[in-house]
Amino acid sequence: MASKTLDELLAEGVRGQRVFVRADLNVPLDGGRIGDDTRIRAATGSLRRLLAGGARVILASHLGRPKGERKPELSLAPIAERLGELLERKVAFCPEVVGPLAQAAADALGDGELLLLENVRFEPGETRNDDALAKGFAELADVYVNDAFGTAHRAHASTVGVARLVSRRAAGDLLRAELEHLKVVREPERPLLCLLGGAKVSDKLAVLEALAPHADVLAIGGAMAYTFLAARGEPTGTSLVEPDRLDDARRVEEAAAKAGRKLLLPTDHVVVEKLEPDAPSEIRAQVPEGLMGVDIGPETAATFAAEAAAARTIFWNGPMGVFEMDAFAKGTEAVANAVASSAARSVVGGGDSVAAINRLALGDRIGHLSTGGGASLEFVQGKTLPGVAALED
Ligand code: 3PG
Repeated sequence: MASKTLDELLAEGVRGQRVFVRADLNVPLDGGRIGDDTRIRAATGSLRRLLAGGARVILASHLGRPKGERKPELSLAPIAERLGELLERKVAFCPEVVGPLAQAAADALGDGELLLLENVRFEPGETRNDDALAKGFAELADVYVNDAFGTAHRAHASTVGVARLVSRRAAGDLLRAELEHLKVVREPERPLLCLLGGAKVSDKLAVLEALAPHADVLAIGGAMAYTFLAARGEPTGTSLVEPDRLDDARRVEEAAAKAGRKLLLPTDHVVVEKLEPDAPSEIRAQVPEGLMGVDIGPETAATFAAEAAAARTIFWNGPMGVFEMDAFAKGTEAVANAVASSAARSVVGGGDSVAAINRLALGDRIGHLSTGGGASLEFVQGKTLPGVAALED
């Protein structure tokens, strides 16, 4: 990566400089309360170093998808409070994103002080990478630091537009660490096991297509496995199947076969009549008519675990079943345990997979827990992330 590091930036000196930091503070909110502060914690490393170096930090992030409208429930104000607790210092908050109020708040900062701007997606120009908005950000900054790995796959005004306008720019520590860890999946020590789950083939088609010929073993769980099973002509009952994706599933299978790779689908299932948290369930080798698959069964979990034990590198993204219901979280939890028990270098990304690891307190047995869902998927399939490219000289 040809972009400047935070070490290099700090060595040049940042005292008294206005440093605009783009972080990804897009955390789950539960009625205005922060559900999981992992991303806020992850942002503190670079912030601490910049503040210690005497920078005047102007911090920006998005939260949710307000689509260019001011939505009070998506305000970053509660995040400012949590950030202040974690950094053990005052975090000023500006209810605007750019303009005179933001300018005045930035001007009021002393060395080693921090200001958080309101949700950048309250501005309609953010997601369309509008020049005027990017210029507004650039006017607040002498230096630009991007540490928002989770948003690095979005070419927005605060991730790409502003970076092009500020000549002194650097990659934050989190962004660099994420890229280093995820590079291991692109250039793995083999065998490489990729475990992919989640609801829809359509959401993950590009990564399935990229990983099928690349991974030694691609193990598929979650509802998207039913589209693959349907494509093989197996019964799937009332399970979630995307009929318009059957050909795509067949293409992915063919790509794996042609490259001599293994593609594993579930060989047993937790099935229910209705998707309810306490619905009576059974384990079946195939999903019978009138029933729905909601989790991988124990035999599948054991097969995936054996592959995890044999692998030298593991990448896991996506739950193996309806993880939000406790009764159907066992497959996901079994995979979490298997990844944690393996001696392989492991990288786990995506909200539900990371939540499963955290719920079982397995975090310190995983090589890397990524703060990026979509960003990590795009990176492992070999794409250039626009937020990263914009930092390069
Ligand atoms: C994420 O949660 O994956 C990132 O914050 C990006 O959010 P987005 O998908 O709304 O762009």
